[in-house]
Amino acid sequence: MLPIQFIPMESTLQHVLAAATSQRRTFAIISHPDAGKTTLTEKLLLYSGLIRTAGMVRGRKGGKVTASDWMGMEQERGISITASAMQFPYKEAVINLLDTPGHQDFSEDTYRTLTAADSAIMVIDAAKGVEAQTRKLFAVCRMRNIPVLTLVNKMDLPGRQPLDLMTEVEQALDIQASAVNWPIGSGSDFVGIVNREDSRIQLFGRTAHGGATKVTVSELGLADLGASGRVSEETLMQVEHDLELLDIAGNQFSRERFLKGLVTPVFFASALTNFGIESFLDAFVDLAPAPGARPADLDGGGEISVDPIEAPFSAYVFKLQANMNPKHRDSTAFLRICSGRFERDMVVKHHRLNREIRLSRPHSMVAQERSTVEEAFPGDIIGIINPGIFAIGDTISTSGGFNFKTLPQFQPEIFARIRPTDVGKRKTFDKGMTQMAQEGTVQIMRSLNEGDQLVAAVGRLQFDVLQYRLRHEYRVETILDQLPYTCSAWLEGDPATFKAPSASMMVKDQRDRVVVLFGDTLMKSIGRDRNPEHILREMG
Ligand code: G4P
Repeated sequence: MLPIQFIPMESTLQHVLAAATSQRRTFAIISHPDAGKTTLTEKLLLYSGLIRTAGMVRGRKGGKVTASDWMGMEQERGISITASAMQFPYKEAVINLLDTPGHQDFSEDTYRTLTAADSAIMVIDAAKGVEAQTRKLFAVCRMRNIPVLTLVNKMDLPGRQPLDLMTEVEQALDIQASAVNWPIGSGSDFVGIVNREDSRIQLFGRTAHGGATKVTVSELGLADLGASGRVSEETLMQVEHDLELLDIAGNQFSRERFLKGLVTPVFFASALTNFGIESFLDAFVDLAPAPGARPADLDGGGEISVDPIEAPFSAYVFKLQANMNPKHRDSTAFLRICSGRFERDMVVKHHRLNREIRLSRPHSMVAQERSTVEEAFPGDIIGIINPGIFAIGDTISTSGGFNFKTLPQFQPEIFARIRPTDVGKRKTFDKGMTQMAQEGTVQIMRSLNEGDQLVAAVGRLQFDVLQYRLRHEYRVETILDQLPYTCSAWLEGDPATFKAPSASMMVKDQRDRVVVLFGDTLMKSIGRDRNPEHILREMG
């Protein structure tokens, strides 16, 4: 790493910056649809004091979305802005919650969003354990070394044994699990939790209005649990047995190992009844990291580490979204601030375009409200009106000279030919397609010989969204014919001498790189075997 040469900042500003940065917790919730992500988000807002009764975020349901739901939601554009990032205070901390679409077809979007997070909360349904989408999202966190806290939710319903769930987390995700608290009873007998570190118990009162308001908590020592009259002899024995077992055979927790992604602290709770939620949130704020240094490539080669406090203002674009307001054709670039203090109207360098730009009209989301940002700090997410100058991955800063690491692309798994029904609409169609590709809704490809427009995506829902948005935002009807390919790879070497296996096709991506599409993975390995002089490089 080369030392970074920046002019020292005024010490008072540095002080303000250091304090603000250490307060920030920028994270995402990862879960399988239905595990309780929306409910937990709502309870965060309840315990932060931002809303007095839960029940407002209902219906957002980023998780269990179908194509038509998603599109319906998209029509009410405000919701999707809210869904990108929300900021609110929680006790001493300032929370930035990034929304990750739960549907697997949007995993590329989720991946990019996770690059902007410093930690993740993994919500698991106590009855279902580690589900498919949780695995995928966890894998993304692992790739990026993001520390993950685990919340076993729905403890108020009949579920699996807590010890079983711990084992499943370890085996399915290949990470050590360390219980921070332990449930007392389960299903309708779930009455409290034991904090393993100090053996203090929290017993919960009856939940008012189905969890719409905070739950009352009484604290006692483990020795007093039997006398509380809230648990059966059997539950008491079970808790004592489990705690003993965990002390002997359980994994030690250390924050250092958690920050390295080697161990996940596990908490048991019910987001619906609020049992265990406040102590979980307190622990989250305590354990989750504040924004740290980020690696970047120096223009002349080599790497630097951009420190959030030492370095001047810098940020990168992790998401673009157009036409949020159908009346004004605007596009918003979402930026994650990596270092320094952001001030409204500041002039920064746009590294890719090599020019200066003014960041006017920045906004952020506080709960459901869109508000103008006067200043922001590392870890914060700001939305900037994008007059077509931002692309995903762009770096901006006041110093220039480096670029944050590019965001890897997901390997597309479905491919289609697309064209406008009305040839007269070709221009508008192209405009819409370019916009959608910039946002990362789909990837655009062209066949080598025919010059046909192809689209590639990770999931079918992305095509549905593409056609829907072309129709509603650009008034272009399209015909989409899905192609019989299921995987792809970049081709390195002369395409003219590549011996293509059957059921394959050569195309070019947006950056003019040759990509080979294959019917299946078997065809891909045949392609590799037949062409030892060429390299078939995986995307990602
Ligand atoms: P998601 O965003 O991860 O998809 O999950 P969401 O919070 O929407 O929760 C899915 C369903 O599970 C909802 O029920 C929600 O009320 C319920 N739920 C969430 N957490 C808990 C919990 O701790 N205990 C229990 N018993 N249920 C929980 P729904 O019937 O689908 O929706 P709704 O009618 O309650 O809104």
